[in-house]
Amino acid sequence: MLDLNKIYCGDARDVLSDVDDNSIDLVVTSPPYDDLRKYNNPESSWNFKVFQEIAKELYRVVKDGGVVVWVVNDKVEKGSKTLTSFRQALYFQEIGFNVNDVMMWRKTNPMPQVKQPRYCSCYDYMMIFSKGKPKTFNPIMVNCKLGGKEYNSTAKNMGGENGRRKLHYNVNRQKVKDNIWDIAIAQNKTDHPAVYPLQIARDHILSWTNEGDVVLDPFLGSGTTALACKQTKRKYIGIEINPEYCEIAEKQLAQF
Ligand SMILES: C[S@@+](CC[C@H](N)C(=O)[O-])C[C@H]1O[C@@H](n2cnc3c(N)ncnc32)[C@H](O)[C@@H]1O
Repeated sequence: MLDLNKIYCGDARDVLSDVDDNSIDLVVTSPPYDDLRKYNNPESSWNFKVFQEIAKELYRVVKDGGVVVWVVNDKVEKGSKTLTSFRQALYFQEIGFNVNDVMMWRKTNPMPQVKQPRYCSCYDYMMIFSKGKPKTFNPIMVNCKLGGKEYNSTAKNMGGENGRRKLHYNVNRQKVKDNIWDIAIAQNKTDHPAVYPLQIARDHILSWTNEGDVVLDPFLGSGTTALACKQTKRKYIGIEINPEYCEIAEKQLAQF
């Protein structure tokens, strides 16, 4: 097994082969979106075949009940969305994962759309795959608008006067948060071109793991997932192919 709380600089295909079967509680990651950015990496580091190899490795290393959070989007090619993210989701399902949910990260400060025949693109998918039923779910709760209010009403065909029964209930004060999360695009303080917000990593880690659990990010980039693990007392394994980004991640962690 690899050492925990460490960043491994290498191709995820190679590094993952050293991770034990059924040893990871959660994967939170954002892979390259199609070939929108090259990240100064060799052409061969990312394509659908590489994705398939890595997806199969993720299935092997994730524990029963473990979860993969896959933050992704598609490029527009010759006027048409590639839907690579959908193909990836179907592949995850084909190799045994449940598609537990397809969540959205709605960017509260999206890049304005110019000269495109479509509305402003303001969200990325956060696909939630699980190996069987998620073993941990600590849902984020939000206040109900009418929480604590009392209501009286009647229900048909339930006995009582004229066949109607009187009902009295209180609206719950809190409910489970929606699966569309409103979060601003990260204020990027590094030279990495595609950093996701710390809140995305943190809120998924809190939702799907408990303290001391092991979280893997096979596309660590500038280290956001590792930072969120440090903040929430989870252990991490980070993998990143580009040595410059590994250095950025190490520096960020040292300052945290
Ligand atoms: C979308 S970025 C991840 C950004 C990260 N979530 C953050 O907040 O900084 C995807 C990363 O995957 C890396 N990458 C691409 N192919 C890889 C591979 N085969 N193995 C490991 N990392 C790879 C890229 O260098 C890039 O940094």
